[in-house]
Amino acid sequence: MIHEDAMLPFETTLGPGATWLRGYLSLDQQRAIAEKAREIIDGPVGGYVPTVRGGGRMHVRMTSLGRHWNPLTYKYMATRADYDDAPVQPVPEEWVALASAIAAEAGFTATPDIALLNWYGPDGRMGLHQDKDEGAESIAAGHPVVSISIGDTARFLFGGLTRRDPVEALLLESGDAFVFGGPARLRFHGVSRIIPGTAPAALGLSGRFNLTFRVY
Ligand code: SIN
Ligand code: MN
Repeated sequence: MIHEDAMLPFETTLGPGATWLRGYLSLDQQRAIAEKAREIIDGPVGGYVPTVRGGGRMHVRMTSLGRHWNPLTYKYMATRADYDDAPVQPVPEEWVALASAIAAEAGFTATPDIALLNWYGPDGRMGLHQDKDEGAESIAAGHPVVSISIGDTARFLFGGLTRRDPVEALLLESGDAFVFGGPARLRFHGVSRIIPGTAPAALGLSGRFNLTFRVY
């Protein structure tokens, strides 16, 4: 089912532990995040297109903050050993505060220490996967993943705890937040496509930033 109806409430539950906060961020907040994200992804430890185990290339430009997610080992580390060995940069403090506030809005107490920053061009996508490379204690505690979307709308897929479970498609728009923790922490998810030209004009963006905050 596709949720395209603008009459949906601001806060929508997609099962226990999964909350979609539509239009959570003001345009000014979105602009500030976009500027910072652009600075980071174009900076000295900027975005790159990861090659994953098995040799496939991802369809996003990515950079990790706080800890580096190594796409070859699926482990977090202090440097980008799979790419340029650059030391990972910290998560900006204002982003930690924002992600904590969003987690609280969804009923979780969490202070994220990792952020993965992804840039999706017009052909950007991400296959169905689980976020399960954080520390075992964090996952067992159900500390949430807090996701923020900025720019073009994404068709986000949200499934269940196994790959074969039915998948819902949600249109995540610029300024939306999506939180999955507790019993939803390991639900499969992905992005099937980006809808070009849908970013708010005021952002001057053609493409999509997604930030996912996690507790290691
Ligand atoms: C991710 O699962 O890491 C990214 C999800 C998204 O881009 O919305
Ligand atoms: Mn993910």
